[in-house]
Amino acid sequence: MRTPSKVKTLALFASGTGSNVRCIHAHFSPDPDVEIGILVCNRPDAAVVSFARDQNIPVRLMTREDLHDPSRLIADLQAAKVDLVILAGFLWKIPGEMVAVFPDRILNIHPALLPRYGGKGMYGKHVHEAVIAAGETESGITIHLVNDHYDEGAILFQARCPVHPDDTPEQLAERIHQLEHQHYPNIIEHYLSSIS
Ligand code: GAR
Repeated sequence: MRTPSKVKTLALFASGTGSNVRCIHAHFSPDPDVEIGILVCNRPDAAVVSFARDQNIPVRLMTREDLHDPSRLIADLQAAKVDLVILAGFLWKIPGEMVAVFPDRILNIHPALLPRYGGKGMYGKHVHEAVIAAGETESGITIHLVNDHYDEGAILFQARCPVHPDDTPEQLAERIHQLEHQHYPNIIEHYLSSIS
């Protein structure tokens, strides 16, 4: 007899538009074994907050107090029985206390080929501006585990795309977003299947 599989619960952390959140939501919606238990956002007016509310995903707004003392945020994640935390365009650094409570259970997506173009201040269009300014002919995405250091956790996956000589940061961002949407949900699914 097949034992029923345990439902796995994701927490999604996002700060802005949330195109990755939408893709992850669309990918897992048909899957009865995976649920999005909570969306955490640091900007009450972000488009991703409206999306989550429309989808009946509980929203937890994160404040600067949570950064300094994340104990209540951690308790909220535990109350939601979160198995895996997914950073999808989340622009604050995850507090060390939270990394300690969720070891190897926090994934991030970065819009460049780490270890280059990562670290503090390297997010969103700043990354693409730096890549173009350096004359790179190639960029890409990195999906990695989160540790105590910005963008330095173990790399799970990378994919590449060209940078054209006349690219604007917006054009490169669009190409990177396509890669993210194509790969992030699949990598999450694969990682979920590897954890108990
Ligand atoms: C994505 O490109 C993601 O890689 C990046 O923010 C964007 C969010 O887009 N994250 C970082 O720069 C983290 N350092 P989205 O809100 O449309 O998903």
